[in-house]
Amino acid sequence: MKVTQIYLLLHLILTTSVLVDTLSVTGFMSNLWKRLSFQGSCDSLKFNAEGLRADLESKLFGQHIASPIIQKAVTGFMNDDNPKKPLVLSLHGPTGTGKNFVSKLIADNIYKKGMDSNRVHVFVSTYHFPHPSQIDIYKSQLQEWIKGNVTKCERSMFIFDEMDQMHPGLIDSIMVYLGYYHKLDGVSYRKVIFLFLSNAGSKVIIETALKFWKEGREREAIELKDVEKDITESVLNNNLSGFWHSRLIEKSMVDFFVPFLPLEYGHIIKCVMAEMKAKGLELNQDVAHSTANEFIYFPTFERVFSVKGCKSVENRMKFYI
Ligand SMILES: *[C@@H]1O[C@H](CO)[C@@H](O)[C@H](O)[C@H]1NC(C)=O
Ligand SMILES: *[C@@H]1O[C@H](CO)[C@@H](O)[C@H](O)[C@H]1NC(C)=O
Repeated sequence: MKVTQIYLLLHLILTTSVLVDTLSVTGFMSNLWKRLSFQGSCDSLKFNAEGLRADLESKLFGQHIASPIIQKAVTGFMNDDNPKKPLVLSLHGPTGTGKNFVSKLIADNIYKKGMDSNRVHVFVSTYHFPHPSQIDIYKSQLQEWIKGNVTKCERSMFIFDEMDQMHPGLIDSIMVYLGYYHKLDGVSYRKVIFLFLSNAGSKVIIETALKFWKEGREREAIELKDVEKDITESVLNNNLSGFWHSRLIEKSMVDFFVPFLPLEYGHIIKCVMAEMKAKGLELNQDVAHSTANEFIYFPTFERVFSVKGCKSVENRMKFYI
């Protein structure tokens, strides 16, 4: 190789390495920046009381007890700049009646990014905390997460699904955040929303709904007081969830026990129609009826309530379009 060639080669190597270096440095910096700014800021709030009311009214079906309780509780809480305690709602009822859906409607109307907001945290007992042997790790992890996230963003929301399957030890570890404390270790939890979802109490709720149906009374005549006491009692008799409820009830940490009633044929029709509308499809009663007929209803003889509520309406509907 001639000297000039060596020189050129050297030059080439140097320039590229500098280029690569600058690129990786800028890449690194911008990544770092993204991470810092992402971790450092809370997603925007955009509480919309009217939106929540409208959503509950037009998108949640068959829940004349749950709907107004949730609307009033959430609105009152969000409009209070200095709440005395976190808002704690315990949602009860059979599968597919709208407990998860309501959580989404609440998030959609509080946070700009809805369920995708970094202020919303969902924990599913059997998924996040499956092994009883790991309970001590879960405990400290969960406490750290709640504390860390609330320190960062006061108006956060924690949703605990399958609460009736949660280990008593874990339940114990979150109790402390639900009370009337001004501050704990310098952190205030008073602006947090806790939602507990469970099937606990479903039996009583179903029995009540069926009793009204058999007596020919309107479903809308069922009142909170017709089920509230029975829910708490029936749940207390269950060993696992009993522990949870006795603790919650004893300290009156739960603001509302909210029952979700089993859904009837007419509600399934509404769910299908709503799904068509959401998908921008032409509304078609025949499709709605064909889909609703696919669902299984109970009790075996009367066939009043859908076994799975409105769950998987979307998938079943596809066969008829
Ligand atoms: C917030 O909660 C999530 C789990 O939802 C967790 O992964 C994260 O580490 C928590 N953040 C802080 C700052 O503790
Ligand atoms: C619930 O508790 C009772 C009495 O303490 C016990 O006999 C029963 O086996 C327990 N049931 C379960 C499912 O753990």
